[in-house]
Parts: sequence; structure tokens; C-alpha cells
Amino acid sequence: MPLIESPAVTLYDRIASFYDPWSRSVTEDVGFYVDHALASGGPVVELAVGTGRIAIPIAQAGIDVIGVDSSPEMLAVARSGAEAARVSGRLDLRVGDLREPPVPERVPLAICPFRSLLHMETEAEKLRALRAARALLEPEGRFVFDVFAPSRQDIDETHDRWLEREPGIFERAVWDEGSRTLSLSVRSGEDTVTFGLHWLSAPEWLALLDRASFEVEELFGWFDRRPHAGEEDMIFVCRCR
Ligand SMILES: C[S@@+](CC[C@H](N)C(=O)[O-])C[C@H]1O[C@@H](n2cnc3c(N)ncnc32)[C@H](O)[C@@H]1O
Repeated sequence: MPLIESPAVTLYDRIASFYDPWSRSVTEDVGFYVDHALASGGPVVELAVGTGRIAIPIAQAGIDVIGVDSSPEMLAVARSGAEAARVSGRLDLRVGDLREPPVPERVPLAICPFRSLLHMETEAEKLRALRAARALLEPEGRFVFDVFAPSRQDIDETHDRWLEREPGIFERAVWDEGSRTLSLSVRSGEDTVTFGLHWLSAPEWLALLDRASFEVEELFGWFDRRPHAGEEDMIFVCRCR
């Protein structure tokens, strides 16, 4: 049986019920994206919006969000989160593929947080996604997203080991440096889901962004806005060229 069972599109439906507990400790990026949303004035398109981990705080800050995701189950969690936070009116959730987002509107800001672009398997698919994001933007619009490329230390410390990331939720990273694919398995109870993340280096992302007609204004190495200096994390702030 192949390690990566099927496309991410359907796998996230299976993870939706434990995605929020699994990602509970990931909070460092929220303020960063909310600040960009406020600076843009909105509305904001979030590509791969998931359960609304970022979109709901943006809506709470008073900015309208159009959220696109291919997983109806992830969107169902986002919908109930938005209701609980009393911001349903600010969140417009649409099932769709980020390479062809069902968004005729043009906006000042599109975002794609938490490494979601790494679900695009090839450079050609990544370029397609970048061009789709570009097409959503007003002439002065910005696209902000984050991705990563693993460090040697990260690979050595985590490769093929089950680690308890949150109580009762286990994670295993299998790194293939040849194909530059991380097969990430997440286990909760009886359910194990494995999906692929396909990384690139910073220069390769810069080349793709250039081909998608973006000018890169900033490349950060963390959400505290330190300039990227070889860190695993890469946070791109791009403007339409
Ligand atoms: C790591 S989660 C990120 C969710 C959210 N942005 C966050 O920061 O928590 C990745 C999301 O990408 C979505 N996804 C994967 N491939 C997609 C595609 N081709 N089009 C749209 N959404 C996709 C998944 O359904 C999932 O919700």
C-alpha cells in the first residue's frame, strides 16, 4: 500500500474532528496574519482556510474573510467556530481548490497560512497556485504565505518516530530528501491519516514567485519578522508586479 494514501483533498475530511486539538499549540502566526489583514483593510481571501484557525481571529478583528478549502469537513468545523465566536457574518466559506478558487471578487490581500501550499506536489502545481492567488488581487494587492524546508537537525531528530504532539494525538514524520517529500502521519485513537508535504528551497520559491509576477517585499524567517537567514520557516510577503 502506498504511504500517501490519497490526495490531501479527502484526507483532511478525516482529520477535521481532531485538527484543532492537534494544532492547539500553533499560535505564533495568528497575530502576524491578523496584522496584515488589518493593514489591508480587507476583505481577505484565505486559501486553504481549514477550520478557521486564522480566519476567525481576522473576522474578530473586524475584517471580512472569504475562505476557500477543498475539505467540506474542515469547513464545517470553521462554520461552527465562527458561530461560537459570533462572526459568521464576516466569514464566507467556499468549497473549492486553491488552484482554481471559486472567488470572482478582487481583494487587497490573499493569504495561505500554515504551509498549505506544500500540499501542491510539483513545482508546476505550486506555480499554478501562485498564479491563482495573483489573479485574486487588486493591482496593489499582496499575497502573504508561509512554508518550510526542514533543517538537518529536524530530520535527524524526528525521522520515522511517533511523537505525542498533544495529549492522545501522535505525529510521525518520514522525510524523503530525494523527492523532498515529508509524509506526515497523524494518529488519534484508531484513526491514522498520512499526507504529503513537498518542500522547496527559498531560491526556488523566489523563482516561482517571479514567474507568477510577484515582487517579494519581505522574506521572514519567523513571525516576529526577523529576516530569513536560512531558518526552516519562510514567510513571504509579496506584491503584484
Ligand atoms: C495545514 S491545513 C491549514 C489550515 C489553516 N489555513 C490553518 O492555518 O490552520 C491545510 C488545509 O489545506 C487544505 N487543502 C489541501 N489541498 C487543498 C487544495 N488543493 N485546495 C484547497 N484546499 C486544500 C486542507 O483541506 C486543509 O484544510
